[in-house]
Amino acid sequence: MIKIYGATRYTVLRKRILAPKIKEIDIYSPRIARAARAGQFVMVMVDRVSERIPLTIVDWDREDGWIRVVFQEVGVSTIKLGLVDIGEDLYHVSGPHGVPTHISRFGTVAVVGGGVAVAALYPVARAFKEAGNRVVAIIGARSSNLLIYEDKVRSICDELYISTDDGSRGIRGYVSSALEKIFSEGLKLDLVWIVGPVAMMKMCSSVARRYGVRAVASLNPIMVCGIGMCGACRVRVYGKTRFACLEGPEFDALGVDWNELELRLQMYRDEENISLRRFLESGGCIGQDKT
Ligand SMILES: Cc1cc2nc3c(=O)[nH]c(=O)nc-3n(C[C@H](O)[C@H](O)[C@H](O)COP(=O)(O)OP(=O)(O)OC[C@H]3O[C@@H](n4cnc5c(N)ncnc54)[C@H](O)[C@@H]3O)c2cc1C
Ligand code: FES
Repeated sequence: MIKIYGATRYTVLRKRILAPKIKEIDIYSPRIARAARAGQFVMVMVDRVSERIPLTIVDWDREDGWIRVVFQEVGVSTIKLGLVDIGEDLYHVSGPHGVPTHISRFGTVAVVGGGVAVAALYPVARAFKEAGNRVVAIIGARSSNLLIYEDKVRSICDELYISTDDGSRGIRGYVSSALEKIFSEGLKLDLVWIVGPVAMMKMCSSVARRYGVRAVASLNPIMVCGIGMCGACRVRVYGKTRFACLEGPEFDALGVDWNELELRLQMYRDEENISLRRFLESGGCIGQDKT
């Protein structure tokens, strides 16, 4: 076991820039590292006035006591997180939250991920592989410079397809087109597992439906508490209201009300923009009391 000198609770041990605005950090947290399983997430508070944001646990080391998250800087909380340096402590990290991915020997599983979510796909693909499945990965990004975790995903999959919206790498188009392509070429899949932006997950699930294959999606609704108390993460699946933080984040993709999820994600857009503007105008310092 590596002795981590000076690490206390939630110390940032390592930090790496993977792509523009996409960062990877390792956080010292022996308790979460001991319990973490593929598909789960943590709720992170950067400082004592920060909101709590959900981030997928991308990797962990039970012996050395760290967990890894990969995040895209999209608003105040993720920008603040990106400003934390190695050796500094985060205010609070709770977890692991959520139901772990149901891992079984299904046969051939396609794991599909877009953008920053390719990192979230990695532990799940690894777990499917370890369970004896043939794993076909489809990963994509808007452009080649935004493609992350390619080598890591390749190292644990049987086949890897890459797509970029602008065609700068791999198949031109969305990951859903790549999924369509492998189906149309006759590859027989037993399960499709999807993670990424809502529009992408919606398209992939309709491809899976067309080919009559079961699909599971890891959803990303807004979360506030992460423990089933606030109701912010409500999603409708087969007409029933489900709490993604407690009962998810993974659900049967064919039953998800994608349009409602999309609308709910936009609910606080004005407030988020105001908050971001104030944060940037204040010089973007972390640990501040007013934003
Ligand atoms: C279970 C779960 C796991 C997640 N894992 C990751 C991860 O590993 N890496 C990562 O980068 N992000 C992940 N997210 C999304 C992440 O939580 C949000 O990007 C973050 O909360 C945004 O906070 P902010 O204050 O920086 O931005 P805000 O100001 O809150 O939002 C900025 C923009 O991002 C959009 N946004 C806000 N929350 C979400 C969301 N949950 N999903 C998609 N778009 C959102 C807003 O609509 C807005 O346009 C996950 C979300 C969930 C529910
Ligand atoms: S985030 Fe509060 S109930 Fe799910």
